[in-house]
Amino acid sequence: MDFLHLPSFASMRVLVFGFWVVTLFSEFAVGITRHYTFNIEYLNVTRLCHTRPILSVNGKFPGPPLVAREGDRVLVKVVNHVSNNVTIHWHGIRQITSGWADGPAYVTQCPIQSNQSYTYNFTITGQRGTLLWHAHISWLRATIYGPIIILPKHKVPYPFEKPHKEIPIIFGEWFNVDPEAVISQALQTGGGPNVSDAYTINGLPGPFYNCSSNKDTLKLKVKAGKTYLLRIINAALNEELFFSIANHTLVVVEADASYTKPFETHTILIAPGQTTNVLLKTKPKSPNATFLMAVRPYFTGSGTFDNSTAAAILEYTHPSHKPTPQNLPLLQPTLPPINATDFVTKFTAKFKSLGNDKFPSKVPKMVDKKFFFTVGLGTSPCPKNTTCQGPTNNTKFAASVNNISFALPHSLSLIQAYYSKRSNGVFKTDFPSVPINPFNYTGTPPNNTMVTNDTKLVVLNFNTSVQVVLQGTSILGAESHPLHLHGYDFFVVGQGFGNYDENKDPEKFNLVDPVQRNTAGVPAAGWIAIRFQADNPGVWFMHCHLDIHTSWGLIMAWLVLDGPEPNQKLQPPPSDLPKC
Ligand code: C2O
Repeated sequence: MDFLHLPSFASMRVLVFGFWVVTLFSEFAVGITRHYTFNIEYLNVTRLCHTRPILSVNGKFPGPPLVAREGDRVLVKVVNHVSNNVTIHWHGIRQITSGWADGPAYVTQCPIQSNQSYTYNFTITGQRGTLLWHAHISWLRATIYGPIIILPKHKVPYPFEKPHKEIPIIFGEWFNVDPEAVISQALQTGGGPNVSDAYTINGLPGPFYNCSSNKDTLKLKVKAGKTYLLRIINAALNEELFFSIANHTLVVVEADASYTKPFETHTILIAPGQTTNVLLKTKPKSPNATFLMAVRPYFTGSGTFDNSTAAAILEYTHPSHKPTPQNLPLLQPTLPPINATDFVTKFTAKFKSLGNDKFPSKVPKMVDKKFFFTVGLGTSPCPKNTTCQGPTNNTKFAASVNNISFALPHSLSLIQAYYSKRSNGVFKTDFPSVPINPFNYTGTPPNNTMVTNDTKLVVLNFNTSVQVVLQGTSILGAESHPLHLHGYDFFVVGQGFGNYDENKDPEKFNLVDPVQRNTAGVPAAGWIAIRFQADNPGVWFMHCHLDIHTSWGLIMAWLVLDGPEPNQKLQPPPSDLPKC
């Protein structure tokens, strides 16, 4: 299929000029250009007996997969046919010097307005595996999401057994009402948002919901004695999820488009924004049973949450000369309890980067800059003459990093303000590297839980090696936060419970084979330490990937300056960059 993209006139020239052969083949080795068109359009969808028009890409739900090879350039023309403003984020794609194509609204672009289009243009470098794309404005990613499948370069094998088949498994959250109404109501009242009505697997909730028929259940047909690669994605808005298949073992081989040391597990935990590839070995002979694949939340907070279970069915095909047995028993998996932090801690600790000769672990051994950020909830005041439904007497829920709740600009994106030297009045560059008012972060919370609102960035010189300790707080209840960094993969070098101890904890850091990810959970009432090399110039968002926490301001942003070489500079903005 790659060959289809070679222009025929070029092949003719091959015959005429011998040297073109060399050019073509070296070009082939560095990748091809893939063109996609994503039309944002309405689609009527019925789930749990509720029909509503959702926002979709190309009339598909979940959206179409974006498939490319490592090294390819990808051009996605996004055409907005709906009335909402839209952007798409290519979650986990490094976007080396192409920050304009990253997608978060008012960070790396103004939104694509109704009847407008924008072509995202980026090259996939040094990554292979599964990622996801999703809308990155308000809560539109509730329905605008799909897989990114990055195959290894041509003729480069996987570092594990070649699978018989590859199957994307994408988890989502279904709301019977418009999710935009849910978030706008929550922000207005200051209370927690209404929770979703179902979880979904490839868009389908499965048999455990009222009015969810057989056809709303995904059936995965497999053959006996084969190995399948499941490309698992959590595209849910607000919940970390457990996933398990009855009577089957999964082998984790990749996380966030980096290979891991393989390990076996019956259950995985996956946070919103995380992706993971697992091998599923089927039984040697078609068993006389079917197997439930179940998804339900891991929840540590104190608010309400969708406590339901989505399910799909794994079905073995039987040899054609035998009749398919009827009424086979359906075996159920045992999932950990909702708040199984023990399981989660053990499971998370199993992730190690592959770290072999071909895929060495490039964790920074020395750090130039250290940061200590608290992440958690807080409150903000209720506007005059209104009543609010926040956590305490007439307040609104908020969330913050180092007690600053991030305020997005509206007239210009951060990257445009930086690039055109108009940052005055748009953002400040004095984001604090440690909390301004330290407290016992995981102990009794302080009396004053008010956050401040601001737009502050951390400026980093090109190639700074950075360590960030992300410290969860117990303000309004300790809760786990999956933190996502744009433009980078980071290494999770340490993790623990309670308050991070600068004197003792670094001794235990893994600087040999830590997992490399773009999204990692800060444990409830605990911390993680991450490291990355700031070798990608641009403006990069870092936020909790629970959408409600993003909405409440659990965000900060990095501004990484250009390096000296031409390929170390942020490219100029594309001519079709949307205007605000
Ligand atoms: Cu997948 Cu800024 O997010």
